[in-house]
Amino acid sequence: MQCSWKAVILLALASIAIQYTAIRTLTSKPFQLCTLPSPQNCGLGDPETDPPFERGSAGCEDYPYVYLNATRKTHVLVLATTRSGSSFVGQLLNQHQEVFYLFEPLYHVQTTLIPRLSHSHNTADRRVMLGASRDLLRSLYGCDLYFLESYIKPTPTNHTTDKLFRRGASRALCQQPVCDAFGPADVNVDEGDCVKKCALLNMTSATEACREKQHVAIKIVRVPEIGDLRALLEDPRLNIKVIQLVRDPRGILSSRIETFRDTYRLWRIWRATGRKPYNLDLSQLTVVCEDYRSSVSTGLSHPYWLKGKYMLVRYEDLAKSPLQKTKEIYDYLGLPMDKNIEDWIHANTRGSNEPSAKHKFGTIRDSAANAESWRLKLSYDMVEYTQTVCQKVLHQLGYKTVRSVEELKNLSISLVQDKTFAPFL
Ligand SMILES: *[C@@H]1O[C@H](CO)[C@@H](O)[C@H](O)[C@H]1NC(C)=O
Ligand SMILES: *[C@@H]1O[C@H](CO)[C@@H](O)[C@H](O)[C@H]1NC(C)=O
Ligand SMILES: *[C@@H]1O[C@H](CO)[C@@H](O)[C@H](O)[C@H]1NC(C)=O
Ligand SMILES: *[C@@H]1O[C@H](CO)[C@@H](O)[C@H](O)[C@H]1NC(C)=O
Repeated sequence: MQCSWKAVILLALASIAIQYTAIRTLTSKPFQLCTLPSPQNCGLGDPETDPPFERGSAGCEDYPYVYLNATRKTHVLVLATTRSGSSFVGQLLNQHQEVFYLFEPLYHVQTTLIPRLSHSHNTADRRVMLGASRDLLRSLYGCDLYFLESYIKPTPTNHTTDKLFRRGASRALCQQPVCDAFGPADVNVDEGDCVKKCALLNMTSATEACREKQHVAIKIVRVPEIGDLRALLEDPRLNIKVIQLVRDPRGILSSRIETFRDTYRLWRIWRATGRKPYNLDLSQLTVVCEDYRSSVSTGLSHPYWLKGKYMLVRYEDLAKSPLQKTKEIYDYLGLPMDKNIEDWIHANTRGSNEPSAKHKFGTIRDSAANAESWRLKLSYDMVEYTQTVCQKVLHQLGYKTVRSVEELKNLSISLVQDKTFAPFL
């Protein structure tokens, strides 16, 4: 074997060095973890007799609000990959009055810890990234937004920054009191307008806004395997509910080719010329399928640590009946679905019973309506190739393979099999 034990040791050493740096970065901020919830350290008192917990008075600065007023917060985690419809799902949560939503905070972890290797599949890098990600998520669910500051470049001064990734995707961060640019009547602030008009983000008021809300929802696309989150899911201080969002890998590929034009340039060449470039980076496809296969297998095998905390959602099902699927999601989360969400769905999708209505604005409407439009965009040999590489996961998730161009291009034949993925209750 070429890959000798020396290489293994080198890899291990490199990984330790990186981890050390990571840990130093993390511990340079005061970050106090309470070991287990108990009346002494986390304000988990008797809800009948104890007064509502006051922040800071019982020695655990970081988690009291998790248990504030004995009403448990729900911590929603949308686990997805890029171009799988996760912005849409994120919006379904973001629209809720009592949800504080964050759009992919792990972006900052990745750009800080692994700046040169943004598509790194190196095991050591991945492990460091995961450890840091879990810590960050834990803090964010506790509304500790300061913790995020150690990853934002340039480092925020006086707890203010204009560099929070996709700040505008979070309703609470574009509204009063966090941002004064819009009045209470501006219910649907456009993401770009928010970034332009809200100027600096004050992390202190963002933290306060988070605490004001009953629940916290976070969307991530940088954790490939649900098993990597087990420590977080088992943390008794948290009340996490995972929504694992999946999409047909053929649709993901097509969408990425359109969106990440540089990175997926060779795929476009393949499509245009009909010839697969010899230096095509196949991992751009295989990694999605491998990660799905492993993560979905874990989820659907119903390990005890996922009990009550796991729901798999196919993007295509959501696109087909957004209202009904959203209700199912909210049922699973145990949250009432407020009217905002229904309004938003009606405004941004073609709705459940108006299949031919015209869609006014671009992205969101289209992403919901065109879940199968990849069939008109990918060439048959690209589809055939994807089907070979992703065979197992297509079968697992109930996506039909095609055997001819005619079948591929005939949209009256659906490639999404009826398949029920009930939440693991
Ligand atoms: C807890 O919160 C609920 C709803 O926000 C409120 O009705 C109730 O009075 C609060 N309980 C205490 C003890 O403050
Ligand atoms: C931060 O706040 C301090 C005290 O208010 C002020 O002196 C300093 O100029 C501020 N720094 C920046 C970069 O705004
Ligand atoms: C940020 O907001 C907090 C309270 O919400 C305020 O006390 C603080 O002065 C603000 N910081 C800056 C730099 O404006
Ligand atoms: C598309 O498929 C449907 C159902 O199998 C079939 O009836 C129809 O003729 C097909 N259309 C074309 C253009 O092949």
